[in-house]
Amino acid sequence: MTQDRHLPVLVAEVVEALAVVPGALLIDGTFGAGGYTRAMLAAGAGQVIGFDRDPDAIADGPALVPDERLTLIEERFSQMDRALTDRGIGLVDGIALDIGVSSMQLDRPERGFSFQGDGPLDMRMSKSGLSAADFLNQADEAEIARVIREYGEEPRARSVARAIVAARPIERTGELAVIVRRALGFRAGQKSDPATRTFQAIRIHLNQELEELEQGLAAAERSLKPGGRLAVVTFHSLEDRIVKRFFRDRSGGNPAGSRHRPVLVDSIEPTFEKIAKPVSPSERELAGNPRSRSARLRSATRSAAKARASRTN
Ligand SMILES: C[S@@+](CC[C@H](N)C(=O)[O-])C[C@H]1O[C@@H](n2cnc3c(N)ncnc32)[C@H](O)[C@@H]1O
Repeated sequence: MTQDRHLPVLVAEVVEALAVVPGALLIDGTFGAGGYTRAMLAAGAGQVIGFDRDPDAIADGPALVPDERLTLIEERFSQMDRALTDRGIGLVDGIALDIGVSSMQLDRPERGFSFQGDGPLDMRMSKSGLSAADFLNQADEAEIARVIREYGEEPRARSVARAIVAARPIERTGELAVIVRRALGFRAGQKSDPATRTFQAIRIHLNQELEELEQGLAAAERSLKPGGRLAVVTFHSLEDRIVKRFFRDRSGGNPAGSRHRPVLVDSIEPTFEKIAKPVSPSERELAGNPRSRSARLRSATRSAAKARASRTN
């Protein structure tokens, strides 16, 4: 079944974590179908800057959220501080990031993210750069295996990579799904499709999603006012680990010193405080939206300390 409009995940919890006050200036770093933006505006935000790297999301945005308080920018969220400076906008009160792909991206076969419907092997959120077909038809077997192991946590990545290389050229998502299922063995009725991990891995690699998340968190640190809130929703453990480490590191919880390994950075002031406990979807949300299953929200408050990392790219 296709579900074209993205159902926002943990949206009430994100708005609560942002502690929106009337007139607040907020960033929705992953606009998608505007679910978070709509909720921010309904909570009284004075202005929302919505970022998305997907030109389709930006083109559809004004019709989905017709509101003069919204400014849409086609850009990666890792560039948010630069984009704000370029427009003469100062520090903001809150930033939300909802990491991953939208239902529109997943459910449109022509975007090539999914094996549910057959489409070209594309998977590029920004619709530019190397496509999944380019990568799979050009990279060597060891590199393909590394990507599938690291980003898909696929224990039999080598077998999958070998099967891909033997079947080249590959152009369609349907072809790739059949190749992976054959390599790993798939019985009809099996609960989870073994192709899921490989598709996830290739998508994360092509869109450099983990690098974007790391740089996006640092960009958010540079963009928030003292007292501003950062709320980040992730969908798998690789992403959640990055957010957890970031907040631990920036709140002074890391590294743990000992007699043998003294703390060298204890003079660095924490840039985030009030790190909230992670939040998962309620039973009610899970029942209405099974895709929210692995979502996790982490949030914290920006302190007045100088941002740790300066822009390097
Ligand atoms: C899970 S969806 C967000 C859904 C949104 N919260 C809603 O309620 O409709 C993720 C969106 O973020 C975008 N995206 C992913 N990585 C991005 C990045 N590094 N910079 C900007 N947008 C990104 C994707 O193109 C996608 O539209």
